[in-house]
Amino acid sequence: MMFIVIEGIDGSGKTTIAKKLHEWLRSRGYEVFLTAEPTQGIIGRMLPSDSLSEFAETFLFIADRAEHTKIIRDKLSKGYAVVCDRYYYSTCAYQAVYLAKYFGGDEKTIDYLLKVQKPIIIKPTHAFLLDIEPEEGLRRIEPRGKRVKFEKIHFLSVVRKNYLYIAEIEGLIVVDASQPIDDVFRSIIAHISE
Ligand code: TYD
Repeated sequence: MMFIVIEGIDGSGKTTIAKKLHEWLRSRGYEVFLTAEPTQGIIGRMLPSDSLSEFAETFLFIADRAEHTKIIRDKLSKGYAVVCDRYYYSTCAYQAVYLAKYFGGDEKTIDYLLKVQKPIIIKPTHAFLLDIEPEEGLRRIEPRGKRVKFEKIHFLSVVRKNYLYIAEIEGLIVVDASQPIDDVFRSIIAHISE
């Protein structure tokens, strides 16, 4: 089984890496299912949402994932290699930022979100965290000259810290994503080829 998940904050390059992985696996003879969350399904299309309450948004991300996992399970059972751009770690890293106040801090919230998602996920064979400073990630994706709001940088720095905690307890492979994309990709395939 080959089930690869790519995680990281906005601007970390995970979508580019997921596409390159798709091509690389195909060139090695795999049939590949490249997929992403939030999905384009009826639930995923509502996400992310500024108008939903914190709990509604959180549990919709999880509901979207529960449906997505059924598709992933089916593809894996048919022998596909699956490459997924974001998975349950995203909900832990992002939603913990605003749920922390209800559960006694970031780490307790992450532990709760991991536990609640256990029944609806499949543990990936390889999970990578593309780690980058928010300022640098945002510089890559914001139009040149547009000033990035302080709140966004602050938000993503908490997401990044959450990701590093998750990486430690869930065993994600942390890759320095500030390197040129080809170097990031090379270190990922080195891990997969092991
Ligand atoms: P995504 O489509 O991956 O956007 P990008 O490629 O720009 O990172 O994700 C959209 C946004 O949804 C992104 O800001 C992260 C957020 N998100 C969550 O907050 N929780 C989740 O569980 C998921 C899957 C995404």
